[in-house]
Amino acid sequence: MSEMQTIQWFPGHMTKTKRQIQANLKLVDAVAEIIDARIPVSSRNPDLDKLIQNKPRVILLNKCDMANRTATKMWIDYYAGQGITAIAVDCKSGRGLNQFPNAVSTVMREKIERLKSKGMKNPMVRVMIVGIPNVGKSSFINRISGQNRAKVEDRPGVTRGNQWFTISKNLEMLDTPGVLWPKFDDRIVGEHLAFTGAVKDQILDVELLAVRLLDFLRRLKPAEFVTRFKLEETDLDETGSYELLRIIGKKRGMLISGGEIDTERAAAMLLDEFRAAKLGKITVEMPNGVQR
Ligand code: G4P
Repeated sequence: MSEMQTIQWFPGHMTKTKRQIQANLKLVDAVAEIIDARIPVSSRNPDLDKLIQNKPRVILLNKCDMANRTATKMWIDYYAGQGITAIAVDCKSGRGLNQFPNAVSTVMREKIERLKSKGMKNPMVRVMIVGIPNVGKSSFINRISGQNRAKVEDRPGVTRGNQWFTISKNLEMLDTPGVLWPKFDDRIVGEHLAFTGAVKDQILDVELLAVRLLDFLRRLKPAEFVTRFKLEETDLDETGSYELLRIIGKKRGMLISGGEIDTERAAAMLLDEFRAAKLGKITVEMPNGVQR
C-alpha cells in the first residue's frame, strides 16, 4: 500500500473557475455555500471567504439524510455562534429546502430594509450557489428551481449560458453554480473527502483508504457497522485495522484463489457502504474536531 499523495486539484482550471466566480459574484447579492454535512470542514474551500468578501452568505449543510442529526444541530449552532446562518438540507428528497428563502431573507435583512426605506417596495434578491464538486450543487438547483426553471430574462454581463430562475417573488437564483476546488491542506482533509467519495478512488489507494476509515469506525463503533459485519468487541479493540478489513472480507466471503482474502474488494465494498450511509448516519467532522 502506498501512502496517499498530495493531490493538486484542477491546476489550470482553477484560475478560470475563480475568475468566473468573481464575475458572477458581481451579479448577486448573496451566496449560498453548499457543503457536505458529514464533513463540514473538508468539504468547504476556505478561499471562498476571500472570494466573496463581505457578501451575505447562507451555508447549506447538504446530505443531512446521511449525517448524524445531533452533529448537524451542533454545526448549525456553531455557525450561529459565528454569526453565520446555516440550514440542514437533503437535496435528494428536498427536505429542508423550504427554509432557504427565509434564510436568505435573514442574511439580507439590513440591505432589504435599506432599499425599502429608499422607497423600493419589493426588492429582488439574487443569489448564486457555490461549492466543491459532488456536494450536491446541481441537485440543489434542480430541486429548488422545480417548475420555475424558465428563464427570467437576459441581463447584461451575465456569462452566456447563465440563466436565472425564480425561487419566490423576491428571490432569484443563478442557474450556474460556482465550482470551487477542494483544498488539500493536509492528509486528513484528503482522506475525509475520499471517505465520502468527493475524491475519485482512482487517485487513492483503496485499501489504505479503507484502513483509515476503519481506524475511525472502530473508535466510533456505530451500531449499524458493528451489526452489519457481526463484529465482536475483540475485532474492534484488539485487531489492527488491516486485520479488521480481512475479517470483514472473510465474513462477506470475498476470497481469491488459494483461499486468500480479497482485501481490495473488501475495501471497495466497505467504502461503498459507508458512502451510502449503510454503516450508519455518520458525521466525521465535529465543530471541535474529528468525531470520537
Ligand atoms: P455537484 O453538482 O455539487 O457536483 O453534486 P450533484 O448534485 O451532482 O450530487 C452529487 C451526488 O450526491 C449525486 O449522487 C446526488 O444524487 C447526491 N446527492 C446530492 N444531494 C444529496 C442529498 O442531500 N442526500 C443524498 N443522499 N445524496 C445527495 P450520484 O451517485 O452522483 O448520482 P445519483 O445517485 O443521483 O444517480
